[in-house]
Amino acid sequence: TSAPSENTPLQGQHWMITAGPTMEAIDPVRFISNHSSGKMGYALANAAAKLGAKVTLISGPVPLEAPKNITTVKILSALDMLAACRQISHENQVDVFIGAAAVADFRIQDIATQKMKKQSNTDEMQLNLIKNPDIIATVVAESMAKFVVGFAAETQNVIAYAQDKLAKKGLDLIVANDVSRKDIGFNQDQNEVTVVGKNTTWSPEKADKTELASLLVQFIRQQNQ
Ligand code: CTP
Ligand code: CA
Repeated sequence: TSAPSENTPLQGQHWMITAGPTMEAIDPVRFISNHSSGKMGYALANAAAKLGAKVTLISGPVPLEAPKNITTVKILSALDMLAACRQISHENQVDVFIGAAAVADFRIQDIATQKMKKQSNTDEMQLNLIKNPDIIATVVAESMAKFVVGFAAETQNVIAYAQDKLAKKGLDLIVANDVSRKDIGFNQDQNEVTVVGKNTTWSPEKADKTELASLLVQFIRQQNQ
């Protein structure tokens, strides 16, 4: 690798970014998931690559094209996403990790190996769920990356909850996202966020996710110098 230049300030750095939802199987034909579009994570991956970073994108199932010049690892479940993070961090020194994925908080405790059948003696149905590992907290705990950035999806007390998550997970920065707003965030092309660090808060204007991603990548670069 050559020395970083003005156009490629991230040359020589490796960024690992998670994106999209995870999909937790119930049986061979059913699953639990969420509405994450993956757009923010993919935009961040593209923005970092544009500035010269080597990028590994770990993506849940989304109908987005894998970006050029980016190694994309497709996974389904949270457990698979964590395994992919561990493998990539073992093989590479990761400078920046961004957890943009909407990881399912719970998975099915016992995935049925055959399609589940309706029972005729009851109208009710219970599924036992078990907590998934916290991927980003594990990235911090196992020192998988030097600088760790999370997202916080909130519908109320956005900044306060984001600050809690920053501290609890041991993150360097957290990008707080108000997912109660229909005009931004989940499944939208635009987003408006507040970036919270231990001693910083920064609120860029509402923008297209591609533009916002580029601003966020530059901000992360400044903070991690
Ligand atoms: N996250 C993760 N692994 C999980 C859950 C969340 O890595 N099992 C990451 C997300 O990728 C995000 C951050 O943690 O970067 C915050 O996710 P969020 O869902 O907002 O917070 P949770 O810690 O799951 O708390 P809650 O959903 O209860 O608000
Ligand atoms: Ca969650």
